Amino acid sequence: MKNCAYIKKNILRIGDLIFKKYYIFLNNRNVIILYGHMQNILVTGSAGFIGFHLSNLLLSEGYNVCGYDGMTDYYDVNLKQSRDNILLKNPNFSKTTAMLENKEKLNEIASQYKPDIIIHLAAQAGVRYSLINPDSYISSNILGTFNIMEIARKLKVKHLLMASTSSVYGANSNLPFSETDQTETQLTIYAATKKANENMAHSYSNLWKIPTTMLRFFTVYGPWGRPDMALFKFVEAILNNKPINIYNNGEMKRDFTYIEDIVKGIRLLIDQIPNNLANITKLECDSLSPVAPYRVVNIGNSKTIKLLDFIKAIEDTLGKKAIRNYLDMQKGDVKSTLSDITLLQKLTNYSPQVNYKEGIAKFIEWYKDYYV
Ligand SMILES: NC(=O)c1ccc[n+]([C@@H]2O[C@H](COP(=O)([O-])OP(=O)(O)OC[C@H]3O[C@@H](n4cnc5c(N)ncnc54)[C@H](O)[C@@H]3O)[C@@H](O)[C@H]2O)c1
Repeated sequence: MKNCAYIKKNILRIGDLIFKKYYIFLNNRNVIILYGHMQNILVTGSAGFIGFHLSNLLLSEGYNVCGYDGMTDYYDVNLKQSRDNILLKNPNFSKTTAMLENKEKLNEIASQYKPDIIIHLAAQAGVRYSLINPDSYISSNILGTFNIMEIARKLKVKHLLMASTSSVYGANSNLPFSETDQTETQLTIYAATKKANENMAHSYSNLWKIPTTMLRFFTVYGPWGRPDMALFKFVEAILNNKPINIYNNGEMKRDFTYIEDIVKGIRLLIDQIPNNLANITKLECDSLSPVAPYRVVNIGNSKTIKLLDFIKAIEDTLGKKAIRNYLDMQKGDVKSTLSDITLLQKLTNYSPQVNYKEGIAKFIEWYKDYYV
């Protein structure tokens, strides 16, 4: 079977090589069919919430995905394992379980798979946990990200895309947040490590001409979501007749972004390789560096939702009221987030589609199916 050639769903396989079918329409009668070699993509954090959905999307398009994840116990490892099990059903997915801090393993994987593109999502995530265990953020996010940048340099990858966060906007109060805004006021170590990643990536992009896109995600939610995030915690508590904690007495607003919109945005940005050559006309809203092939892009829904409306939509979908525990603002939290996504739209022609009520319903459907 290994050396057989066969075509399935517009994908031509010859041994280990995969080619995708492209159609070029000449006129009403003639069509040229070309097969192009599919690229290898290294996705770090592939067993995580966003990495899992992104890997699924890339595999559905015929890419070869090399997943890398340390399966940390920050939250339920069984959930990560279940995500892995789904991905592993696809023959174009391979998985390495190792930490980003393990340079030797990363080098081994890099020379074995020679990825054309790296999408670095693995990190110690979570704003609140960074007050409890800051060390893990320094290790995973600073050292781990540096190790990824090193292999991107050695492999001369076509494009390095790395996760950042809306938290880098910190104490900024001018809404919506734009990529060209100053970001000097991070409020937590989590946000500070992500801002440091952006700076580190800019320096490597400048020194070694690594085309780099930093992705600032805004509060991602949806099926297979993280147990430490509000939607998961609220649904779990309401179903189990436990109280939900509502910070700042509910006076909070978030730009909740549905997972499918996030991964579609990442997918489209893969093809938008930053190029700072003099003959390129820069868009007015572009964050493109003047000296390096580097840019930062917001991926958000660009709608601000009141936390209390979000909770009401959960109650309505579950058909059950929450027991509400109103609390003060948490240290390091921000009151409002809202993304300006003009740059994403101009680069990709894409804008997020799923509204929060629809997204909440999809999450609850998954949650009941998986847990109840
Ligand atoms: N989910 C959100 O709302 C959100 C918002 C903004 C930014 N982000 C960023 O997006 C990325 C993905 O987030 P997510 O929500 O999928 O988180 P996640 O925790 O579900 O996924 C991260 C994955 O990285 C792995 N990991 C952590 N540290 C590691 C290490 N040192 N070595 C190897 N693997 C390690 C974990 O096992 C996990 O599976 C993160 O960089 C996060 O900071 C997420």
